[in-house]
Amino acid sequence: MVLFNVSRVQTTPFDGQKPGTSGLRKKVKVFVQPHYLHNFVQATFYALTEENVRGATLVVSGDGRYFSKEAIQIITKMSAANGVRRVWIGQNGLLSTPAVSAVIRERVGADGSKATGAFILTASHNPGGPNEASTAIYDALHGVAGAYAKRIFVDELGAQESSLLNCTPKEDFGGGHPDPNLTYAKELVARLGLGKSEPQDEPPEFGAAADGDADRNMILGKRFFVTPSDSVAIIAANAVEAIPYFSAGLKGVARSMPTSAALDVVAKHLNLKFFEVPTGWKFFGNLMDAGLCSICGEESFGTGSDHIREKDGIWAVLAWLSILAYKNKDTLGDKLVTVEDIVRQHWATYGRHYYTRYDYENVDAGAAKELMGYLVKLQSSLSEVNQIVKGVRSDVSNVVNADEFEYKDPVDGSISSHQGIRYLFEDGSRLIFRLSGTGSEGATIRLYIEQYEKDPSKIGRLSNEALAPLAYFPSFFWSGCELTSLVSSERGR
Ligand code: G6P
Ligand code: ZN
Repeated sequence: MVLFNVSRVQTTPFDGQKPGTSGLRKKVKVFVQPHYLHNFVQATFYALTEENVRGATLVVSGDGRYFSKEAIQIITKMSAANGVRRVWIGQNGLLSTPAVSAVIRERVGADGSKATGAFILTASHNPGGPNEASTAIYDALHGVAGAYAKRIFVDELGAQESSLLNCTPKEDFGGGHPDPNLTYAKELVARLGLGKSEPQDEPPEFGAAADGDADRNMILGKRFFVTPSDSVAIIAANAVEAIPYFSAGLKGVARSMPTSAALDVVAKHLNLKFFEVPTGWKFFGNLMDAGLCSICGEESFGTGSDHIREKDGIWAVLAWLSILAYKNKDTLGDKLVTVEDIVRQHWATYGRHYYTRYDYENVDAGAAKELMGYLVKLQSSLSEVNQIVKGVRSDVSNVVNADEFEYKDPVDGSISSHQGIRYLFEDGSRLIFRLSGTGSEGATIRLYIEQYEKDPSKIGRLSNEALAPLAYFPSFFWSGCELTSLVSSERGR
């Protein structure tokens, strides 16, 4: 006979340990608290009374869900400490619930006795795992990201395989357009509850997508879209606390010119070096090589850091998961800090940059050039600009500056001119016109509209409502030239 040393551990009661219809069902986060399971098990033994426990045989097993292995160890040791003589455990701790019942009723031990009861480790049909619900959907849009997503999110981080969407790389990207935005990542958008109709299942808490070569990303929360401009600002604001790679501090941050100024506000707040560069990643690369920049991003769904010299779609997702994990480190029960909570909290602290982009695609190249020329010419007279602006909407502030963006690289001194036409308003709003450098047919004119709102009571408006006054009059800007009937498509920024 083996003798055990029984030790006494003092604990305090937990609220809500009263079992419901079918046992004690709590979130994993609740269950894994120190002594939580111990208290419940000991209370159960007390309720059964000593004469029913001493010398008894118990069954301890379950459906193999998260924390079962640890729980079996704890329950078995506590059974021994309470005088239980024998514990029957299914192979690898696994027994179906009907099997447990069968074992209790039918199984007879070598000494002729049977089990008197069981601890069944299951929450039936409810999800398992440290984050329980299917929280981490990743849509690779049939691009190369799928190969990395399986290894990183499923094999390394323990996400369910079912969280992977379109993660088999295909030559034709499954007939889709592998660009992660609200227009093209339709399936993901619908699953997250941002589609036209309500999804069948409750949307997960987090969704992300990548483009074909996995350098772009889109971040979504449940029924919530994070603009790329907000995303980089939020990553920068939380990096030092939430992402170990940055724990020593940030060297600096940077954004492309048309990206909203959300990052500027964070940089100012945290006293960080800040750079505004032309569209295109090479400008960030120079800053990073010179040790001037740790985190950067663009409105065009690119976010990255100085671990490489390109934007990195999977890195952005990991950065967000790190922030979510950090914000939830003390979360118990149902009060999960969500993507939406994080973004709204950020707006409350730093103000919100309402932001959108209109793309005028497939425009005749000559006409587009003409329009840009006209917009530059208009800039020579601010009073004329303000006359147009005020004539259309009196509820926007004055244009106080208008120019074409030019950048002098602080590292190699090179100058990049004609990088976008800017109309800057007194209240921090901006209207920016730019010719796309990546279109494959005709010209694409991009119009970026941004409005800064510091007043916490006004940060919860719908983006299109908040931007309506500014979005109203760009067409009047170009009513002076031929292009009055451009067709725009808003890419959901
Ligand atoms: C590429 C670059 C990005 C850039 C984007 C802009 O994806 O790698 O750095 O932001 O093009 O595209 P656009 O069509 O606006 O010139
Ligand atoms: Zn790409």
